[in-house]
Amino acid sequence: MEDQIRTEVLKTIPYGFYITGVVGADGEANGFTTCWVSQVSFEPQQVIVAVRKDQHTHDLVESGGVFSLNFLDNTQEDLARKFTQTLEHEDNTVGGSPYTTGEATGAPLFEEAFAHLECRVAGKMEGGDHTIYLGEVVAASLRRPADILTDLDTLMDYGG
Ligand SMILES: Cc1cc2nc3c(=O)[nH]c(=O)nc-3n(C[C@H](O)[C@H](O)[C@H](O)COP(=O)(O)O)c2cc1C
Repeated sequence: MEDQIRTEVLKTIPYGFYITGVVGADGEANGFTTCWVSQVSFEPQQVIVAVRKDQHTHDLVESGGVFSLNFLDNTQEDLARKFTQTLEHEDNTVGGSPYTTGEATGAPLFEEAFAHLECRVAGKMEGGDHTIYLGEVVAASLRRPADILTDLDTLMDYGG
């Protein structure tokens, strides 16, 4: 019973939705829907992202040492759903979603996102079944004004 309450309480933590863009040392680009993200420092500007260890994309962050955060707006639930699946990389697209290569890091910047941050991995910490990557923000772009998609807008969830 206490376990169930713990899960329920954890599920009330609100999150924004992003596609984390990754590129391995061999140049393979990919991306996955992510919500365990937070800013953790003003100076330098740094964020953390928790990445599940058994995911293919975890290997790409490990080998590439960079990631991007691609901000999804509140009409992009379908895109968020697509990026919860393992997707193929082909000709500057991932699962058919086009991207450009970030100039600062080489990480993919998905064109459908309304804003991007490029980050260099500055540290990491073991977090049970996830690795928590500390990323230093080295570049940003804002393509259009929008409100971020959150778990309050959809039935999709991660947590508990
Ligand atoms: C709402 C939602 C949020 C998610 N957030 C995260 C997250 O913060 N970290 C993570 O590692 N996986 C997260 N996932 C799971 C990944 O999106 C999913 O495992 C993806 O398929 C991994 O890509 P890969 O198989 O190509 O490695 C989330 C899934 C959902 C449904």
